[in-house]
Amino acid sequence: TTGGNTYGGAPSGGRGGFPAVRPRRLRTTPAMRRMVAEHRLHPAELILPAFVREGITEPVGISSMPGVYQHTRDSLRKAAAEAVAAGVGGIMLFGVPEDGRKDAVGSPGTDPDGILQVALRDVRAEVGDDLVVMSDLCLDEFTDHGHCGVLDERGRVDNDATLERYAEMACVQAEAGAHVLGPSGMMDGQIGFVRRALDEAGHQDVSLLAYTAKYASAFYGPFREAVNSSLRGDRRTYQQDPANARESMRELELDIAEGADMVMVKPAMPYLDVLCRIADAVDVPVAAYQISGEYAMVEAAAERGWIDRDAAIMETLTGVKRAGANLILTYWATEVARRLS
Ligand code: PBG
Repeated sequence: TTGGNTYGGAPSGGRGGFPAVRPRRLRTTPAMRRMVAEHRLHPAELILPAFVREGITEPVGISSMPGVYQHTRDSLRKAAAEAVAAGVGGIMLFGVPEDGRKDAVGSPGTDPDGILQVALRDVRAEVGDDLVVMSDLCLDEFTDHGHCGVLDERGRVDNDATLERYAEMACVQAEAGAHVLGPSGMMDGQIGFVRRALDEAGHQDVSLLAYTAKYASAFYGPFREAVNSSLRGDRRTYQQDPANARESMRELELDIAEGADMVMVKPAMPYLDVLCRIADAVDVPVAAYQISGEYAMVEAAAERGWIDRDAAIMETLTGVKRAGANLILTYWATEVARRLS
């Protein structure tokens, strides 16, 4: 039957012309709202990004990310154990080498005893297979110029020379025990190139989480502090222009063709439209990275008493989930996982 409203149901118009159809009925009690919720967060889909810094004996707080630390090897192990206990799904590691070790090609990134590799071994020793252990596959934490790749003689990021470095890095990280690698440098062909290098080295079981749509974002600001980045300039010749959405579909097609096991959109909140399109288009797991600036924004506003911190955190994560993310990288992973269980 077609009625008077767009759903084809009974027309509104109850007694006295007041509505018969009332969406508010399903919002009456917490139990009712819980029952009809279309999306709910689960600890297992949360991934904790974590920083480990070489040569420190106490964790160092990151001023623009209150509550987040550059970990020592020990405090990182503790954080990983806490994540497991909270039911968190995975951990994504970023290494911060001592400044003096950085060079033009990012040598600490391929040194088997570099901080990231050491941390991977530490964390695997701590958690075994109880947590999915991931590592950032990028050079910016390790280069003295702070770019995500190596530079040519004119100072531009050299795509193919960088791929060679990524391939080497991938094998060292896999060797150190990473379950999943996250190539985040936005070099063309990085997924295919790294996949082949891993396979040739016998690491067929190591997965790739492709940073498929990664935008040149102002919201990475606090991350630069977190990894003591020495970047001058910007990343606009390799990360995507925030104005473009269709371009992400092209990146997606390439990453899938090259063998990405999972794909990611980053940042999360300003790019929910991109996330939604990608989630509709693929059948691999889709991740979203709620990045440092998104974290900082909520923490800073909450500190001033301008928003309700806990509610805002849950709302941002629910929004990302609703837009289509199966996995969410968030600095609140352990805290939220605890709250959920
Ligand atoms: C690159 C990388 C960055 C982030 C994750 N991987 C920085 C960048 O691309 O500039 C940012 C994460 C965050 O801001 O939380 N290695």
